[in-house]
Amino acid sequence: MRILVTGGAGFIGSHLIDRLMEANHEVICLDNFYTGRKQNLLRWLNHPYFELIRHDITEPIRLEVDQIYHLACPASPVHYQFNPVKTIKTNVMGTLNMLGLAKRVHARFLLASTSEVYGDPEVHPQSEDYRGNVNPIGLRSCYDEGKRVAETLAFDYHRQNKVDIRVARIFNTYGPRMLEHDGRVVSNFIVQALKGIPLTVYGEGQQTRSFCYVSDLVEGLMRLMNGEHTGPVNLGNPEEYTVLELAQKIQYMVNPGAEIRFEPLPEDDPQRRRPDITRAQTWLGWQPTIPLSEGLQRTVTEFQQRMNPAEVQAPFAQAIQV
Ligand SMILES: NC(=O)c1ccc[n+]([C@@H]2O[C@H](COP(=O)([O-])OP(=O)(O)OC[C@H]3O[C@@H](n4cnc5c(N)ncnc54)[C@H](O)[C@@H]3O)[C@@H](O)[C@H]2O)c1
Repeated sequence: MRILVTGGAGFIGSHLIDRLMEANHEVICLDNFYTGRKQNLLRWLNHPYFELIRHDITEPIRLEVDQIYHLACPASPVHYQFNPVKTIKTNVMGTLNMLGLAKRVHARFLLASTSEVYGDPEVHPQSEDYRGNVNPIGLRSCYDEGKRVAETLAFDYHRQNKVDIRVARIFNTYGPRMLEHDGRVVSNFIVQALKGIPLTVYGEGQQTRSFCYVSDLVEGLMRLMNGEHTGPVNLGNPEEYTVLELAQKIQYMVNPGAEIRFEPLPEDDPQRRRPDITRAQTWLGWQPTIPLSEGLQRTVTEFQQRMNPAEVQAPFAQAIQV
């Protein structure tokens, strides 16, 4: 198959491309390199079945493809809040352009939506029927309301134009190739611990998150794309940890001497977030397989290789090896 991955130079997209290329598909990656990096795709750049196009999806493009994985959109608050108008344009105009393409060439279209569509949820855990508690005028709304509109567009193209869609609601995902300075909780703690500076926990650290390792997530996306269910389907790890527990795990793994420092909670920071994955289990036969400690270990090792050696404190670099 010829498969288009928008946002394929980013964290999740590049892992997805690895899987698709390994399965001998022809892959086209569209990316404007806002948060994506060519390094993530280095091993495929000269492959005859791989094509990398620098393109901003807010502009239309014509391509012949069988499937579209639509991932292009900055995912971390630092990046999506840097230029909120651009973020909502990417979610609305970008998704419109990609749905238009899917309609024209009869491609199956998968939207990478997010658990953020549930906002600060009042029910726990969140199942796909829950309609969310989202602030339409908050700092996160360019992203969470943007994704809600993207879902609406996908379902309207499906109902009105018979576009074959799939909608995944992705919960916190982590792993190698996350950006070092994107403010996401896992990468933040790992970088801080490796540098030997205090790990910053917001509030009292009692807010919970669930963390899905990227290879599990990619497996879920591919099953959803190639299965018969439109969705939306939650993809995430239902194991719940407080942010403080995560900080302590990383502190113990990388740098037991590191300090944990508490700072004020940012606006609209959700208190609890945990997926109900009954749908993914029954429809896709999917559930996460990589335990947090193993996933963290792999992530720490990759960060350590990637980071400037001068920044990583020598004793802690050794601590990870054992
Ligand atoms: N990582 C997570 O925990 C998580 C959770 C929920 C949803 N998601 C969704 O999954 C998708 C991928 O997330 P990620 O973590 O890999 O993020 P990422 O920032 O690493 O990747 C996004 C990619 O999209 C590209 N991009 C952004 N705007 C673009 C535009 N206008 N035109 C073309 N390319 C553009 C970026 O350059 C980058 O390569 C996103 O849609 C995100 O909303 C991610």
